[in-house]
Amino acid sequence: MQLTEKTELLKQIRDEVINLKESPLYEFRVRNNYFPVLGQGNHDADIMFIGEAPGKNEAEQGRPFCGASGRVLDELLTSINLKREDVYVTNIVKDRPPDNRDPSREEIKLYSPFLVRQINIIQPRVIATLGRFSMEFILKLFDAPEQNDKISQLHGRKIKAQAEYGEVYVVPLFHPAVALYRADQKTTLKHDFQVLKDFIS
Ligand code: URA
Repeated sequence: MQLTEKTELLKQIRDEVINLKESPLYEFRVRNNYFPVLGQGNHDADIMFIGEAPGKNEAEQGRPFCGASGRVLDELLTSINLKREDVYVTNIVKDRPPDNRDPSREEIKLYSPFLVRQINIIQPRVIATLGRFSMEFILKLFDAPEQNDKISQLHGRKIKAQAEYGEVYVVPLFHPAVALYRADQKTTLKHDFQVLKDFIS
């Protein structure tokens, strides 16, 4: 698929999410003048990062990972010589849940079809999940044998799977937010990020 076509299809998704009145998060977004956060980066990226849901900074700016967790993500990307523009960064849930709570089952069900479309448009070779929620969703989506395993067992591994468009590797990673309050987790994240180097051409 041509890059221009990908960009057009991604814009359609954005327009649908902007008008997603049936979402339990829609009212909260409008009331606070928040933006939905669709994703950011290269529409032809080999590596796609998937987080959970936007926080306050992200909803105010309409960009993923632009707060404290985003600074950790940038540091991790730099450690393997990648820039944000080289990859695509998104979340499962596209609107901010109140009080920084975890996304609910209902929210994941409502927003995840948009994520699946984004994956099939961008067609990454690697999907790096950030945190438990996106890991569980993606492993289930691809019906991976590891789908019931814990993030503590799977982090930093390359799991081969079959996407609609071909072969993809899933690399489960801890959420960058954990590195904000646990130095040992940052070391683990840095170590796990090295796995992504195998996919940098
Ligand atoms: N945490 C996430 O999971 N996603 C963001 O975009 C920001 C923080």
